[in-house]
Amino acid sequence: MKNINPTKTISWKYLENHLQEMKKTTINDLFKIDKNRFENFSINFENKILFDYSKNFINKTTIHYLINLAKETKCIDAINSMFYGKKINITEQKSVLHTALRYNHNYFLKNKKIYNNIDKILKKIENISNNIISGTWKGYTNKKIKNIINIGIGGSHLGPLMVTESLQEYKNKLNLFFLSNIDSNKLIKIINKIKPEESLFIIASKTFSTQETMTNALSIKKWFIKNININLNKDIFSKHFIAVTNNINSAIDFGINKNNILPLLSEIGGRFSLWSSIGLSISLSIGFNNFKKLLQGANKMDYHFFSTPINRNIPIIMALISIWYNNFWNTETEAIIPYCDNMRFLPSYLQQLNMESNGKSIDRNGNKIKYQTSPIIWGDVGTNGQHSFFQMLHQGTKLIPCDFIASAISNSKKYTNHHIKLIANYIAQTKALAFGNINSFSCKKNLYQCCFGNKPSNSIFLKKITPYNLGLLISYYEHKIFIQGVILNIFSFDQWGVELGKEIANYLYKDLNKNSQNINQYDYSSQGLINFYKHFH
Ligand code: F6P
Repeated sequence: MKNINPTKTISWKYLENHLQEMKKTTINDLFKIDKNRFENFSINFENKILFDYSKNFINKTTIHYLINLAKETKCIDAINSMFYGKKINITEQKSVLHTALRYNHNYFLKNKKIYNNIDKILKKIENISNNIISGTWKGYTNKKIKNIINIGIGGSHLGPLMVTESLQEYKNKLNLFFLSNIDSNKLIKIINKIKPEESLFIIASKTFSTQETMTNALSIKKWFIKNININLNKDIFSKHFIAVTNNINSAIDFGINKNNILPLLSEIGGRFSLWSSIGLSISLSIGFNNFKKLLQGANKMDYHFFSTPINRNIPIIMALISIWYNNFWNTETEAIIPYCDNMRFLPSYLQQLNMESNGKSIDRNGNKIKYQTSPIIWGDVGTNGQHSFFQMLHQGTKLIPCDFIASAISNSKKYTNHHIKLIANYIAQTKALAFGNINSFSCKKNLYQCCFGNKPSNSIFLKKITPYNLGLLISYYEHKIFIQGVILNIFSFDQWGVELGKEIANYLYKDLNKNSQNINQYDYSSQGLINFYKHFH
């Protein structure tokens, strides 16, 4: 990858000048001038997802300069480097291989060993899923497994949670629980609902050392031993505990049977890992065939991203529009608003994907960055959001680009009138945001009722939320975020910032555990908080 400061490119300068022009116009004007605006600024991907980016502060000139920015910052080189397995995660000296995990994919990376590995892991996921779902896999009392408990956090949690919730209608009879937070209230809630003899615990941790996951896993292990009424032996344990990890030795030390360990390649970043063995809980919940379709969808978007020229390349175009707002219009945030209740975890999932990847301030040359990097990602489901934060979107002072996501066909066959109303609201909001009501009677009569419009948004319209289409959507966001990182000249695949918080939590934990009241090596604020805690213990 080339390390180019984007602000020093010619296109950046052009975009800065162009911004002044665009500030004089309105989205309404842009639509008046160009009758084919929708055709010019939307891409229908195989009739499976429609990307409408016409309600933005862009015209053909904007797109022209943005495409030049992608060219000047060598985005195509970067894409090739990732797909061909070059070590683009420089700070950790690793390749970035999540695209190699997508099913039937051997036309990119030429590395047989890695594909054999991936195939073996997939076979294991398939076997475990089939055995558990069919009931062939029995617990230690010979009962079928009813409950799956995924113990993991961050990338070892958010992807499987978001996918399985989004694909509710594909779920089988297994009860799926996610234990991520170290707060024991969550653990208690789960163990109150399950019996050990009917439960399978997946300890999902790439490092097998994350404090939250290991604390939860140990407590679950103790609870399991206490509640099985016979002495634990290896055979019993292996009927109920599985590990997904890159740290095989620690999993063995924990007591996991070697055959129950699903390896996770070190080249798969946590937030990109739902396609890997971390996806075991997905496969268990919706079946291996559906998991495979998810991978195939992602693979299809990979292929589009890899082979389509920049002017029709969806992830690149959308990344450029995001940079246009973040770095030129100085918008601080981006809202993700799914008009689909089952997709309510998409904003949290994209928070990690975007902010952990691109929340950086040192560039690839080792210089302190003087421009903006990751936007703040936030959001909630529509229509709920309409009755809370939308007021600010419509009439507030901040400019907040939004992604509106919906599906044309509902997954629910009942109460069909709800879906039509949902979609009416979905389209209505983007229209109200873009065009406002300045010519309306209510606005002319009362200034407080005026919505001035001019608020940008993208509409991402899926045909239906199927495993394949969800694979397309997630892969699209992964690549969009990757391109933003490439252009912003940062390393998107590490997360060193998170480490400091972990380190301090570890030694603070030791201090909080000490009997002594005299802990005083901290700053005055932290010391005050420690004293308050100690007062009660
Ligand atoms: O929060 C930081 C992080 O390292 C994430 O990147 C990762 O997804 C999460 O912790 C969990 O890590 P692990 O899978 O190693 O437990």
